[in-house]
Order: sequence, then structure tokens, then C-alpha cells
Amino acid sequence: MIREFTQQGDGVLIQTPVYHQFRRLIESAGRVVAGNSLKIEDGHYTIDFDDFEQQLKQGNAKMVLLCNPHNPVGRVWTRSELQTMVDIARRYDVIVVSDEIHADIVFDDHTFTSIVSLGYEKAVSIIGSPAKNFGLNSIANGYIYTDDDALYQQIKSTVNSLAIDHGNALTTYATIAAYEKGREWFEGYLQYTQTTVHWIAEFVASSLPDITMYKPEGTNQIWFDFSKLQLAPDTLKSLLVNEAKMGLTPGAWFGETNPNYYRMNIAADREQIQASFARLHTAINSL
Ligand SMILES: Cc1ncc(COP(=O)(O)O)c(C=O)c1O
Repeated sequence: MIREFTQQGDGVLIQTPVYHQFRRLIESAGRVVAGNSLKIEDGHYTIDFDDFEQQLKQGNAKMVLLCNPHNPVGRVWTRSELQTMVDIARRYDVIVVSDEIHADIVFDDHTFTSIVSLGYEKAVSIIGSPAKNFGLNSIANGYIYTDDDALYQQIKSTVNSLAIDHGNALTTYATIAAYEKGREWFEGYLQYTQTTVHWIAEFVASSLPDITMYKPEGTNQIWFDFSKLQLAPDTLKSLLVNEAKMGLTPGAWFGETNPNYYRMNIAADREQIQASFARLHTAINSL
């Protein structure tokens, strides 16, 4: 998508901190990252629309690459937030591509809205792949969607020319089987993950007051800020890795400059997650 809809040297707007491959793909394609940092308001990540508009107005970006639901901060962008972004993109004639791979992993009363449901003709949704929903991470299959015929034809002809318009027999049938027969499994998985989120939120609130958790509205990731512990970066890392035995992803991967941020993947066995939080609790108490 990046190579198809932008030229060498063009800017691509991303909302940092964000899934680390966005930056890598933009830069390795010879494009430039236009960073639209997310803001934290009342303990909640939001979009800096003024900066978003300025970047497009100044021509810093020819494409907006959204992540919805957002990895790593866990926001599921509301219709109104998406509408505001689309209105701005339309004003400056910028294409919006939305990575919606976590679209089905949405918790509680939050609702996922696809970018293509807003009637903007320059919108493409990379709806995703069975990887996240069904734990089929080895499946190199994905699919994209647009309502616009011209965009569709353009993408399709490029995809054909690269011979990536089909998976191999195993991945294709695994994908079909997952979507045709996997509903019950997926619903159980979603319920399980949501219960894990609730358990972690309660444990952090009751027992780990120096840890800030951004309770996810979706995705299977949780974003934590350990700033209040006031530890040097190496001490914090050692506490997490050696004592709590947690394999968290450093925030720096996602463009976060504060070294106290880490992301946890919770698509895992709850008992192991609980045990790691118990170890973390013990380690923090003995600081
Ligand atoms: C937002 C986002 N997009 C894309 C991917 C890539 O998924 P896959 O490796 O299954 O292609 C991931 C994986 O973590 C992701 O979080």
C-alpha cells in the first residue's frame, strides 16, 4: 500500500507510539515518517487533531496509516474520531489506509468502526488475517478491502503482478476453515481474553498502585507505564525480566521515548499471566 500510493521521499503519517513495523515499512520503502504523537488526556490516549491537520496541511504526508484497534495503546477509535480524521484527509486529498487486523478483538461495550464505513472514497482497510483471531500466526495470509472500484482495481493489478494474490493450499484452507468453523472457538477466546484484561486491571488497581495500566478497549496487548516506580531503565528491565519473568516489549519499539513504557501480549494462558503478576508484586514490594 505504501509503495503503491506514495512516491519515494513522500511522508506517511502514523500515530505514535504504534506497531513497530509501520515505521520499518515506511522507511525501508524510502518514504518518510510523519509522526502524529498520540496525547494522553485524563489517563486516556486521544488523537492530536490539530497536529494531524497541520501535518496534512503542510504536505508532510501523502498517506495516513492508521492502526485501529490501536496496537500498542489499545484504543478502538470511535466513529466520531475516525470521522474527524477522514474529514481532514478529504480536505487535503490524502489517502487513509487502516490496519484493522484486531477488528474483532474488542472488549466490553466498545464498538469497532471500519474506515471504509465512513464513505470516504480514498480509504482502504487492511482488514487483516486469521492470525490474531485464531492464533494462526504462522499463516501468511491477509486481505484488504475498499469500497472504491478504482482503488480496488489498482491494488488488485499490483497484487497480481507481484504474484501475491493467493496463499498456498494449506494457508488458504486453514483460513477458510477458521472463518467458516471457528466462531465458537473465537467467541471463547474473546471471552477468555476479556476476563484476563479484567483480572489484570483489578490486580493492578488493588495491588500495584505504582503501575499505570491503559486498559485496552481492544487488541490482545496491554500498555503499561512504570514511571511511578522511579527506577533506572536497567533496573526496571531487570525487575521485569529477571524477577517477574515477564517478556514485555519495550515501548521504544513503538517510538515511545519514555523508557518506562512496556507492552504486554495477553494472548496467553491466564494462570501464567497471574503468576507473573504475583512475582512482579513480590519484586516491587522488596525494592
Ligand atoms: C497492528 C498489526 N498489524 C499487522 C500485524 C502483522 O500480523 P502478521 O504478522 O500476522 O502478518 C500485527 C502483528 O502483531 C499487528 O499488531
